[in-house]
Amino acid sequence: MPRRPDHVDPPDPPLSDGTVTLRPMRESDLPGLMEEGRDETTRRWVNVPIPYTEKHAREELTQLMGSWDDPTAPLAFTITECGSDEYRGVILLSTERPPGIVEVAYGVHPAARRRGLVTRAIRLVSPWAFEALGAARLEGRTDPENIASQRALERAGFTREGLERGSRSVQGVRKDMICWSLLPSDLG
Ligand SMILES: CC(C)(COP(=O)(O)OP(=O)(O)OC[C@H]1O[C@@H](n2cnc3c(N)ncnc32)[C@H](O)[C@@H]1OP(=O)(O)O)[C@@H](O)C(=O)NCCC(=O)NCCS
Repeated sequence: MPRRPDHVDPPDPPLSDGTVTLRPMRESDLPGLMEEGRDETTRRWVNVPIPYTEKHAREELTQLMGSWDDPTAPLAFTITECGSDEYRGVILLSTERPPGIVEVAYGVHPAARRRGLVTRAIRLVSPWAFEALGAARLEGRTDPENIASQRALERAGFTREGLERGSRSVQGVRKDMICWSLLPSDLG
């Protein structure tokens, strides 16, 4: 897989399954992104600055809004529910990996969790990443104690491959991570 092109077109029409729609991020996502970044569960599993200030949220949003024109930034989609444009969460596709490999990461606003939104979002981006980005393999990484994230990947068809010892640093602590993968052939 060649390096990601400098510009990637967001899917048009947006990816949707009739319940969840994924769209590029917008300025109006700021309050939702900020609330999510300040949530205790988010802070447990994700490398957000603590405290997560409005300045941090603005900087993150600017980077994510520009991700379609910045090959070093993960491609970012806002998760919305059909019939509303409001921020419900974010799903990211990192292409800064060995050729052919794209890593998926995500977070859902605390008020929108346990409604199946991230599972739907992963199912929507996966075929798009294979087709539009030419990915040969999608990866996801979860802390062994992050049950919700593991369930979501499993529900979306990913295979649990095994434990990578000390493979990531989260909030300054070196952690083991479970590696999950999805291949185009898994989508049948
Ligand atoms: C992980 C996260 C994105 C899941 O989002 P979500 O939209 O609530 O997930 P879903 O509703 O699609 O649920 C997926 C599965 O996890 C289960 N689940 C969700 N929250 C759970 C929880 N707190 N404890 C146990 N299981 C949980 C659901 O029941 C579902 O499993 P099922 O289909 O077998 O019933 C969300 O909890 C979150 O934002 N967490 C903080 C950030 C984070 O952990 N990001 C991932 C880092 S790897």
